[in-house]
Amino acid sequence: MLVCSCNVLTDDQLRKAAEEMRQDPNGKMPTPGSVFRHLGCRPRCGGCFPNVIKVIHEEAPASSERSVSAAKTSSTAVPTDTSNDKTKELTHEG
Ligand code: FES
Repeated sequence: MLVCSCNVLTDDQLRKAAEEMRQDPNGKMPTPGSVFRHLGCRPRCGGCFPNVIKVIHEEAPASSERSVSAAKTSSTAVPTDTSNDKTKELTHEG
């Protein structure tokens, strides 16, 4: 499946590059930028980054997955106070 349309990169290419980087003892941690450089290209619009991150961490070892899930947990922490006062203000017509 095509993930990055700017560089025409598929999920298979990205996954393989991330795995190669993990297996290299002197390799860098797979990030979107480093994986792109590993593939000889560079990010352009960055619109694919959320999907690139998902793909390159799908097959990650347990230690890497832990940090990804920790990041997900912290990023999904949404305030539970959902007072609609501002929403009402914004949607008020008149
Ligand atoms: S879609 Fe990947 S850099 Fe633009």
